[in-house]
Amino acid sequence: MAASEPPEPPPRSPVSRPVTARVPAKVNVQLAVGGLRPDGFHDLANVFLAVGLHDEVTAAPADALRITVEGADAAQVPLDRTNLAARAARALAERYGIEPGVHLHIAKDIPVAGGMAGGSADAAGALLACDALWGTQAPRAELLEICAELGSDIPFSLVGGVALGRGRGELLTPLETGGAFHWVFAVADGGLSTPAVYRECDRLREASGTGASAADVPDPEPSRALLDALRTGDATALAAAVSNDLQPAALSLRPALADTLRAGADAGALASLVSGSGPTCAFLAKGPEAAQAVATGLAASGTCRTVRVTSGPVPGARLVHA
Ligand code: C5P
Repeated sequence: MAASEPPEPPPRSPVSRPVTARVPAKVNVQLAVGGLRPDGFHDLANVFLAVGLHDEVTAAPADALRITVEGADAAQVPLDRTNLAARAARALAERYGIEPGVHLHIAKDIPVAGGMAGGSADAAGALLACDALWGTQAPRAELLEICAELGSDIPFSLVGGVALGRGRGELLTPLETGGAFHWVFAVADGGLSTPAVYRECDRLREASGTGASAADVPDPEPSRALLDALRTGDATALAAAVSNDLQPAALSLRPALADTLRAGADAGALASLVSGSGPTCAFLAKGPEAAQAVATGLAASGTCRTVRVTSGPVPGARLVHA
């Protein structure tokens, strides 16, 4: 064999014991939404930040594809073919010509339909866990390609940290950050449908007379002040720069979220915003003590179902070794 020829890939070696992947939630510190494209999506300048709430997806050998879910929100997770983790397992199996015989068990801690990419996290986790279980050893670029086919936010669930998403959010550029930021999340009762929130955003734009098409809306651009604040780790500067173009739409569909945002601000949050398409609200705090104070104020306000305190950025999907 000539020295320049690439080495043979290692043989596929499926494992027989269960494999677990741990995947973070996200908050969008900037979500700039362009006009409606002919394909039904919107171009974005989407700055994702991964935070320390995680789902765990365990893949175990089975005769056929099967899903089980545990956690407070488990009953809200679809168990049929639409489940994103199941779709991820099937997509990987199809590419490698294998049967998707796998039992996927999801230990769910990320709010369901909350605007924190919980479904995306499960898809990225299932992909990583099945890749290890089946020994498919898919290159990173291929995993990212499968993620992008399955959903706009899923590549970020794999990558984690902080990243700018362009296109419909799937074209990622990792960003530098100067430290951890402290976050409080107010989880609402019930979820919001992402397509419905985008539709409401378009409707509000039409109603205001600006128009909603790509020709009517300026191209979304990342905020220089926001990128600087992330790089320097300056929470006060980040608070001044966060923005979410989907927030008016989420508030229009769920007006009570205004009370939640106000309660967090009253309790000392540096910034209060809807997370992605909502209805989870995100609050940036100066430090860990301030975050606890914001959480206490939110819990006492009675404007949300649950309050979670965490920090980020954190790494993306990882295999958990027992
Ligand atoms: O990519 P994903 O499956 O998460 O998108 C769900 C829906 O959200 C899309 O069908 C579309 O209605 C909306 N969406 C959008 N623009 C994006 C991402 C999502 O309009 N950039």
